[in-house]
Amino acid sequence: MERFAGEGARATLSEGAGGNAGASRVRWAHWKGNGCWACPACSIPFLKSDQRFTTLSLHDKFGRAISDLRISITDRCNYKCVYCRTGNEGALYGDLPFADYLRMARVLVGMGITKVRLTGGEPLLRKGVVNFVRELSCLRSAKPLDIALTTNGHLLADLAQPLKDAGLSRVTVSMDAVDPDNFTRITRVPGGYDHVLAGIRAAKRVGLGPVKVNCVLLRGFNEDQIIPFGMFAREEDVIVRFIEFMPLEEDRVWSPATVVTLDEILARMSEYRPVIEIAHARSETARRYRFDDGLGEFGIIAPVSHPFCGHCSRIRITSDGKIRTCLFSVWDHDLHAQMRRGATDEELAEFIRGVVQKKEERHHIGEPDFVPASRTMVHIGG
Ligand SMILES: C[S@@+](CC[C@H](N)C(=O)[O-])C[C@H]1O[C@@H](n2cnc3c(N)ncnc32)[C@H](O)[C@@H]1O
Ligand code: SF4
Repeated sequence: MERFAGEGARATLSEGAGGNAGASRVRWAHWKGNGCWACPACSIPFLKSDQRFTTLSLHDKFGRAISDLRISITDRCNYKCVYCRTGNEGALYGDLPFADYLRMARVLVGMGITKVRLTGGEPLLRKGVVNFVRELSCLRSAKPLDIALTTNGHLLADLAQPLKDAGLSRVTVSMDAVDPDNFTRITRVPGGYDHVLAGIRAAKRVGLGPVKVNCVLLRGFNEDQIIPFGMFAREEDVIVRFIEFMPLEEDRVWSPATVVTLDEILARMSEYRPVIEIAHARSETARRYRFDDGLGEFGIIAPVSHPFCGHCSRIRITSDGKIRTCLFSVWDHDLHAQMRRGATDEELAEFIRGVVQKKEERHHIGEPDFVPASRTMVHIGG
């Protein structure tokens, strides 16, 4: 059985049909054998005549390589975080059968996506998520596909081992306070803290690391949690990542004054212990820091005070199958509608390529011309 192995394998590819414009860019890989090299029992249907298309990579018109796909598998959630949901709205957009997300992912992986992150809403609310991870892990890509998950952690303790066994690489858990009362005030669901902590510990235990813990700081709610989170990172051996609050909430409570900025977080954390910046990859959203004694790491994702749009490598698929090229997009691109009308894989690839060309250069948070995104975070997938 032949395995796709990057440059070496590309030499064996032949030009294939991809439409006039696509013919120069879309190539076909011919596969021998009848099963997935990663998982012989794999049930993913092969393309007609055993073909896989691939490309050198996917770029937008600003030259940014698009390698990172986020798929929201539901816009339902069991928490009502004050910075995210009103608590009155439920799911607005519904979701698709996993087979549809899998096809989208397969096409995109064939186009150069190397990381897939499952998110929501709360992705662990979807029955069948473990099997979906297993099927994703069977996708062929130029290098092993990195499959990650962002979850509120409420249901993670029991699912960590099955997810790991299915092929999940790592997990990010959102947790906005390290004391149960503050946590409940933010999530507006009583009793969640112990579940989430158990989820984080289970993820570490089964090897879904490095486990990252995301914390959105919201002035008036949890800015007092900066140092406690520094201690938490050290005690629990997880990477805490503070995220600046963005205007993507259902309640429209955002104002510049509600944002606890990178500079403020760093200044506060330095009162606890000296911190040292660690080098980070250009495409990494978080600036990374460690403490002077080498124990504990944290990051700060600062899209508001230090935007990183110039290095953005992401596109997103919403739970109802729309592509979003930016969190702050004011429109979506209906990939699922293409599938419903019977588009072939190569037609989907051409559609995606066209959409990626429309990726926004940057966001306009805090500027006079800022136009709110057409969806809020819980309905996009963070
Ligand atoms: C939308 S949630 C979906 C996954 C899961 N429910 C969770 O909370 O991890 C993904 C991430 O977006 C973050 N988030 C939600 N609303 C945000 C906002 N307005 N600004 C910044 N981050 C936000 C959450 O804290 C979480 O880390
Ligand atoms: S941040 Fe995540 S857990 Fe909290 S309400 Fe939004 S989607 Fe739900």
